Amino acid sequence: MTSTLGSADANAAEVPEYPMSRAEGCPFDPPPQLRTMQREAPLRRVRLWDGSTPWLVTRYDEQRALLADSRISSDPTNPGYPAPAPVSDEHSEGSPVSFILMDDPEHARLRRMVTAPFTIKRVEAMRPFVQRIVDERIDEMLTADGPVDLVEAFALPVPSLVICQLLGVPYADHDFFQRNSKVIVHRDSTTEQRNAALGALAEYLDGLVGRKLTDPGEDLLSDLAARVESGELPRREASRMGVLLLIAGHETTANMIALGTLALLEHPRQLAELREAGDDSELVASTVEELLRYLHITHNGRRRVALEDVEIADEVIRAGEGVIVPNDIGNRDPDAFAEPDRLDIRRDARHHMAFGFGVHQCLGQPLARMELRVVYSTLYRRIPTLRLATDRENISFKHDGSVYGVYELPVTW
Ligand code: HEM
Repeated sequence: MTSTLGSADANAAEVPEYPMSRAEGCPFDPPPQLRTMQREAPLRRVRLWDGSTPWLVTRYDEQRALLADSRISSDPTNPGYPAPAPVSDEHSEGSPVSFILMDDPEHARLRRMVTAPFTIKRVEAMRPFVQRIVDERIDEMLTADGPVDLVEAFALPVPSLVICQLLGVPYADHDFFQRNSKVIVHRDSTTEQRNAALGALAEYLDGLVGRKLTDPGEDLLSDLAARVESGELPRREASRMGVLLLIAGHETTANMIALGTLALLEHPRQLAELREAGDDSELVASTVEELLRYLHITHNGRRRVALEDVEIADEVIRAGEGVIVPNDIGNRDPDAFAEPDRLDIRRDARHHMAFGFGVHQCLGQPLARMELRVVYSTLYRRIPTLRLATDRENISFKHDGSVYGVYELPVTW
């Protein structure tokens, strides 16, 4: 029952390239070719940089079904895994970024060790701290005379300060870890550059875990150090988990703050409604969900490989075949969201897949949601005249990053 679109013996040269760049269309929308592919068939083959032809899954229902399927693996050491870039031998002993690239039961065992600070109750307890740093950053911005870069002055520091507090990483080292994270998420970084950055961060986190062994604090790295001490967790794995949490904890939310602000500035009527809404209103919550859906910043597609044959949508994904699940186009599936290309902060978008789906669904989502609610309910209310300080065509978008966003957002008021 295999169609030509999905034919396993298709000549690789005839298979279209996986369209990853949003550069050709509206910068908030998935690549236009993905829409055509979604209309044509739920699954089809695409060609990657190494000539391999994994399956591309473009519709919402099939995306959810596959991400929740335990026969589909996240482990890049399995043959057939559709790697976004060359993988280095250096990491043959295990993933450099811990459990995000592992399967259950090992994935679940490690993930469980770090879930406690991300429960809604613990996250809500951090809200006053987040509100304070958001207000402080705005106060500081308002002392400036001319335009400021919102990324540098606000969007990057806020989530960095939060994840530093939660993990027990000194914020004073932010230049170092932000610089290395940038290299890791930059799609065009060479394998050597990416490895060097991962190595530098792993060494840094290892040093911190070492310090927490003798001088523990009330933070997540100290919890991990205690597990190292009791023999439950190898020290190397503790630092890998630290690297994952540090990168995931600031890159993503920072991009949502800056890109979300740009999207709202381009929808002034909706921004005005949001500004009038109370701090903890339903509208603030639905704005966060809608911007997550609409912008979908983790735009590289979830990468997976089948461990067994999986029958889906009249196709059979054979064991050992790669699968790419671009949730950005799933979040624009008209069967899941009416008028999916319209930003509508009043819609119920809670079933979006901006945090992924299945066992790897984002661990930090309660924290990210709380941070974004505080930011979106405070920034535009406190600076009601906030506007771009440059023409839109001068804004440079992260087409080349594995996390999408803007490099700079010059604003004034
Ligand atoms: C708006 C902000 C965020 C977005 C859009 C986002 C998105 C995602 C996505 C799509 C995944 C799934 C990856 C996959 O299936 O392969 C994921 C996983 C993950 N995220 Fe987030 N994330 C955000 C914020 C955070 C924060 C603040 C943290 C805090 C440390 C975090 C930690 C993680 C971790 C640890 C995983 C791996 C979970 C697992 O493999 O079990 N994320 N995130």
